[in-house]
Amino acid sequence: MFNIVPYIVGLICLTIYVQGSSDIDTFKNYTSQSLLWAPYRSQCYFGIRPRNINDSPFIMGIMWFDTNRMDAMPNLRHQVDMDDKLEKFSWVAYDPRIGGKESIIDHENNVNLTISFVKSHDGKNWATRVEGKPIDPNKKTAISIVTYMTQNVGSSSAQTIRPFLKLNKVISDNDLEFNGYSPELNRYSISFKDNFGNYFQNDTLPTMEIVPGCDSSKTSHMSLTIPDEEVWKARDVFQTLLSDSITKLVEEKGENINSGYTPSILTIRNLHDFPAGNFHFIQKTYDNSQSKGFQFDIIYNSNVDRKENIQNKKDVSRLINSAIDEINSRFDKHFEINETDKEEKRSFALEILSNLLGGIGYFHGNQIVDRSTEFDEDQFNEIKLIHGKEEGPFDLFTSVPSRAFFPRGFYWDEGFHLLQIMEYDFDLAFEIMDSWINLIDKDGWIAREVILGPEARSRVPQEFQVQSPNIANPPTLLLTLSEMLSKVLEHETSVKLENKEDTEKLAIKGDTEQLKYSSDLIINYVSAIYPKLLKHFEWFTRTQRGLIEEYSEILEENPLWEKLHKDNLYKWVGRTVRHCLPSGLDDYPRAQPPDIAELNVDTLSWVGVMARSMKQIAEVLNRNQDQIKFAKIEQNIMENLEILHWSEENNCYCDVSIQENEDTDEEELVHVCHEGYVSLLPFGLKMIPPNSPHLDKVISAMSDKSTLFSPYGLLSLSQKDQYFGQDENYWRGKIWLNINYLCLDAIKHYYPEIMDTKKATSSGTLKTAKQLYTGLRRNLIDNIYKVWKSTGFVFENYNPQDGTGAGAKQFTGWTSLIVNIMGFL
Ligand SMILES: *[C@@H]1O[C@H](CO)[C@@H](O)[C@H](O)[C@H]1NC(C)=O
Ligand SMILES: *[C@@H]1O[C@H](CO)[C@@H](O)[C@H](O)[C@H]1NC(C)=O
Ligand SMILES: *[C@@H]1O[C@H](CO)[C@@H](O)[C@H](O)[C@H]1NC(C)=O
Ligand SMILES: *[C@@H]1O[C@H](CO)[C@@H](O)[C@H](O)[C@H]1NC(C)=O
Repeated sequence: MFNIVPYIVGLICLTIYVQGSSDIDTFKNYTSQSLLWAPYRSQCYFGIRPRNINDSPFIMGIMWFDTNRMDAMPNLRHQVDMDDKLEKFSWVAYDPRIGGKESIIDHENNVNLTISFVKSHDGKNWATRVEGKPIDPNKKTAISIVTYMTQNVGSSSAQTIRPFLKLNKVISDNDLEFNGYSPELNRYSISFKDNFGNYFQNDTLPTMEIVPGCDSSKTSHMSLTIPDEEVWKARDVFQTLLSDSITKLVEEKGENINSGYTPSILTIRNLHDFPAGNFHFIQKTYDNSQSKGFQFDIIYNSNVDRKENIQNKKDVSRLINSAIDEINSRFDKHFEINETDKEEKRSFALEILSNLLGGIGYFHGNQIVDRSTEFDEDQFNEIKLIHGKEEGPFDLFTSVPSRAFFPRGFYWDEGFHLLQIMEYDFDLAFEIMDSWINLIDKDGWIAREVILGPEARSRVPQEFQVQSPNIANPPTLLLTLSEMLSKVLEHETSVKLENKEDTEKLAIKGDTEQLKYSSDLIINYVSAIYPKLLKHFEWFTRTQRGLIEEYSEILEENPLWEKLHKDNLYKWVGRTVRHCLPSGLDDYPRAQPPDIAELNVDTLSWVGVMARSMKQIAEVLNRNQDQIKFAKIEQNIMENLEILHWSEENNCYCDVSIQENEDTDEEELVHVCHEGYVSLLPFGLKMIPPNSPHLDKVISAMSDKSTLFSPYGLLSLSQKDQYFGQDENYWRGKIWLNINYLCLDAIKHYYPEIMDTKKATSSGTLKTAKQLYTGLRRNLIDNIYKVWKSTGFVFENYNPQDGTGAGAKQFTGWTSLIVNIMGFL
């Protein structure tokens, strides 16, 4: 039993009074405790595992199906899958430090499920409450909830006590208690307790026990041993055991079994007399004709320090209520939704953010890397990574673009996720960034997709499983780092200016922004990642360096040649004729035919962002030489964008390549211009000098309804481009929130005056910028909200013609940036 208030007050006091290294220890302890337990198995509808426990983690998952029909098996839900066609699988409120509530509407199985997850405030104990009721009580259905859990045994044979999880006692037919142990978690107990609900029984039958062990009228429990690396296949195991049982049953009873027994037939039993092991199935089958439904709790308690043990259903209820209150108040502290339909829009925003946070997972395992395939001109036709070898194990704490479609780490998406998360929980965003940066290898490389272990790999088509250390991807993490450090530096400056202690501010800001307000902490953290980031910068700029030498003859007479910073020009290695996967904008049109001398305007802009964030870290760390060095690179890049990549003829920033002039047969430098996200990126990434004459032109381009501006957001490719809507049509017109967000934010950055409501903005560009900002912001919010209202989902991208959702559903990756847009932008 506990109360939330002293806890929060306690934390704030610690922050204020404890100084120096113990401050850092306190913070690190708080981080690891508050983030130890959560539903970190992103790929499951509901799956728990602890963070940073790799050798012998405890693992749990929940599956369900309607067992009143013999063809039930395909509807057994486990891993999030679009093909399940659930109306909803959504965290309505969630925070990994606190817990939350997931709502699942499954028409096919006729069940409305609510799964709550909460923790004690010391983070050591947790409870899961499963509640369900029929969507239609008149449909004859039986809802079966199958929980599985295991204590992995791990690798170490030197352990004095082997990790275990075993049934301790059967409290009643349906309430069970288990004991477990692992070296990392020490001793713990887990109990299953029913709160209400009727098990399935058919009144026309004398008993539901069709054969010993198969009885839907009470909880079934089966224990066995499953190797650690097979645990994620729990659904397959269940299915196999059940099929065996059914086959045997039919052998014994004949084909014509009374259909009233169906739910019992679909109940698991230990047919093969497997000895008990660490793995357990617990199946509960409820009568689904009661509109009140059912409810049971699963409670995990650490037995080491029992101070905050969760005792009973009252404790669980209290925890759920305080968790929801706490999440709501944290949300309101960070976002102000000032809209018509304020309440509805606020719950929309909270739900979207909750699903981004609910996608945060902890992954551990090997990844497959091809280190021998070299890239050359031939690769323009096809890149085959056929020399993949397993490397690792590694671990990664990350959010995911979409639990249903992309349940793994994506380097290019993650920075955008963190732009959202940092506004809600700055320290959590940093913790995730830290995990990613730890993956930077000794050469400075980091994989584009981080696919760790067989469970994560099972969701990836073969041809995308292998990663190559030649291939880069937009370094969005450094963009977020730059935004974070801007806040840190801003705060330091304001403290210096005000010349007073920052304790007051700390007290107000609370416990999830300690890195932002404590310079000791942030210095400690960034000094730890700095060496890796230096390597990453070095790797990126070395491997993606543009072949400027190829232009020497063409440009030797041109004054441009002298002005160019020749060491600061870049391209994406690994593009093919049709795709440039490294750029993140897969089928966005590029130079045709491809040439090794191609220089990409977006690569250059992204390196500029890297240089800027390296400059900021150097500033935080007082490394003056480095600060000067990176400031110079940033400056060079901004100049190169202006003098080389701007096309006066096309009025936009463009890729550059070498092509043969058909009339003269001479090679010449050409601007390859396709107006759209690539041409907007120098602006979106704030890489244009504030006094550049090109700013005006970018603003007009974005405001042009015949090219980029639409009632639903900025189009990825101009309607006037010859490739608009063509072929795969992925980044050829569809509206994506990530780049829209960058552009919106950049308008505010370049024209801060537009935010001043009192100031009249009559002059040309300022007026256009203000209209653009207001209109674009409105259109994005209205459309994404409208689509969510009518479908229940946010999408990967949106159709340029009518604004409807396209691509992966429940894409609460970067589409959740809409919460920032609504909440403060
Ligand atoms: C942090 O945790 C470690 C290990 O549990 C413990 O030894 C240490 O005293 C803790 N430090 C603080 C400041 O709480
Ligand atoms: C599911 O249950 C929730 C909570 O009781 C309720 O608000 C919602 O309307 C239900 N949805 C459906 C489709 O039955
Ligand atoms: C109960 O069993 C009978 C057959 O014995 C069947 O016709 C009936 O539909 C069953 N009732 C339910 C609620 O499943
Ligand atoms: C909220 O919206 C109202 C009406 O549009 C406006 O008057 C008010 O200034 C807004 N407040 C903030 C904080 O934006």
